[in-house]
Amino acid sequence: MSSTTTATIASEAAEERRRVHHQADVLIVGAGIAGCALAVALGRQGRSVLLLEKSLKEPDRIIGEFLQPGGVQALEQLGLSDCLEGIDAIPAKGYDVIYHGEHVQIPYPKEDGPSSPAAEGRSFHHGRFVMKLREAAMASPNVTVVETTATSLITAPRTKEVIGVECTSKGADTPDCYFAPLTVVADGYASKFRKDHHPHTPKVKSRFWGLELIDAELPMKYHGHVVLSDNPPVLLYQIGTHETRALVDIPENLPSASVKNGGVKAHLRNVVLPSLPECVQPSFLAAIEKGNLRSMPNSFLPPATNKTPGLIILGDALNMRHPLTGGGMTVAFNDVVMLRDLLSPEKIPTFADTDRVMKQMSTFHWRRKSFASVINILAQALYSLFAADDDNLRILQRGCFRYFQLGMIDGPIGLLAGLIKQPSVLFWHFFSVAFLSIWLLFAETPFYRWPLAIFRSFAVFWTACVVIFPYIFAEMRR
Ligand SMILES: Cc1cc2nc3c(=O)[nH]c(=O)nc-3n(C[C@H](O)[C@H](O)[C@H](O)COP(=O)(O)OP(=O)(O)OC[C@H]3O[C@@H](n4cnc5c(N)ncnc54)[C@H](O)[C@@H]3O)c2cc1C
Ligand SMILES: *[C@@H]1O[C@H](CO)[C@@H](O)[C@H](O)[C@H]1NC(C)=O
Repeated sequence: MSSTTTATIASEAAEERRRVHHQADVLIVGAGIAGCALAVALGRQGRSVLLLEKSLKEPDRIIGEFLQPGGVQALEQLGLSDCLEGIDAIPAKGYDVIYHGEHVQIPYPKEDGPSSPAAEGRSFHHGRFVMKLREAAMASPNVTVVETTATSLITAPRTKEVIGVECTSKGADTPDCYFAPLTVVADGYASKFRKDHHPHTPKVKSRFWGLELIDAELPMKYHGHVVLSDNPPVLLYQIGTHETRALVDIPENLPSASVKNGGVKAHLRNVVLPSLPECVQPSFLAAIEKGNLRSMPNSFLPPATNKTPGLIILGDALNMRHPLTGGGMTVAFNDVVMLRDLLSPEKIPTFADTDRVMKQMSTFHWRRKSFASVINILAQALYSLFAADDDNLRILQRGCFRYFQLGMIDGPIGLLAGLIKQPSVLFWHFFSVAFLSIWLLFAETPFYRWPLAIFRSFAVFWTACVVIFPYIFAEMRR
């Protein structure tokens, strides 16, 4: 028999083992952003993969619609660029930051050096993109996708190793069990399995309320828009030929969105609408009037090393940051690229070697910092500045905008885009913004009031530290 025939027979036998006996090399719970990409990557390495998803219907959500250039690159590395085709995706060339009506354009930097083309992101309908990723998983001969809801992990009584997943499928009256030496939990922000295996719990301080604008006129085509005013930030970006997403951040207990004041709808109409660029207002108002307001919690969850043998936690189940900078999918795809390498058959011949998997996962925890900690810290710190709710933060917010106006943009946008993978660069720019803010404070203060300004500048500097250091420390934990 030729070697190709042998391989085909082996792969058919593995397929039958998955379908009939529910056994594989790896189980992945959740066919979302992280789960699908990992399933394809591991399948291509010759692993037998069972991908378990509670609903294979096209998701209709307001999340994961803007993919940074660093995420587009990771998708390319995974050989999944096709998933961005045929979904009416819109190219993203950078940002337009609007501060009390003043604009600054922040283009994405060149990908590799001055003569290369500028990096591009993509924005799209989340559901269409997920369906493409799922199609890629289904087309993979070593991956079997099953529609079923994971209800609990099955652990070996003595070793406490995770050896499988118990599921309930629609129409079945008995639970189904699936077995593999390795289980990856990628079940998203509300993960069912996190609380028993992750030391931290998500913290939510605000929600994004999503509106879909039809044929909106944005100030800059092919740019994400960030609107800064006296209110928390608003994001606007086109996600299809006719559709534009607006995400409005509303912190918990915001007075103008309280029930007494007419709730979220009144806040959108009375407070947010007038703060937007005039050209967007008609379509924004139409979207408010149409109703169909939806919201999602904006969570922060620091990553942690997993201590349960046989288990890996990935995606939003592992690590979340404020979606202001649209970094979640970029982190997820870069994580998959890194995992593919750390878990390759050359390094780990069989996933039954749980010790070796755990060791590689500890390496993963520290090595992913290069990109993940940049995106995590930047998202949280920038959110604090952009949602400024005290005077010191407002001084930093203004400093940040002036910093961009001075042309200091390549570093910050490179970090945000997921292209610069060096936490020290973020640190440097953050404190440059803090010092510029303080300098501006002195520049506008008449000489005789400088004693007061000195006092204020210490308060501003202290605020900058309070903004960033908790998130830096969160990244230093195991
Ligand atoms: C408001 C908001 C806006 C965002 N905008 C962006 C953005 O513009 N750009 C960006 O990069 N990121 C954005 N993010 C973050 C991004 O959406 C997430 O980081 C990303 O979707 C995480 O992927 P995931 O695979 O971990 O989870 P998901 O994509 O949520 O996938 C989880 C999957 O698991 C399935 N599942 C859940 N429980 C079970 C179960 N028990 N059994 C079987 N299946 C199950 C779900 O049905 C789902 O398909 C945003 C987040 C929020 C909250
Ligand atoms: C599927 O797995 C086999 C090993 O079982 C491997 O030889 C083959 O390359 C894989 N096929 C694809 C398309 O990933």
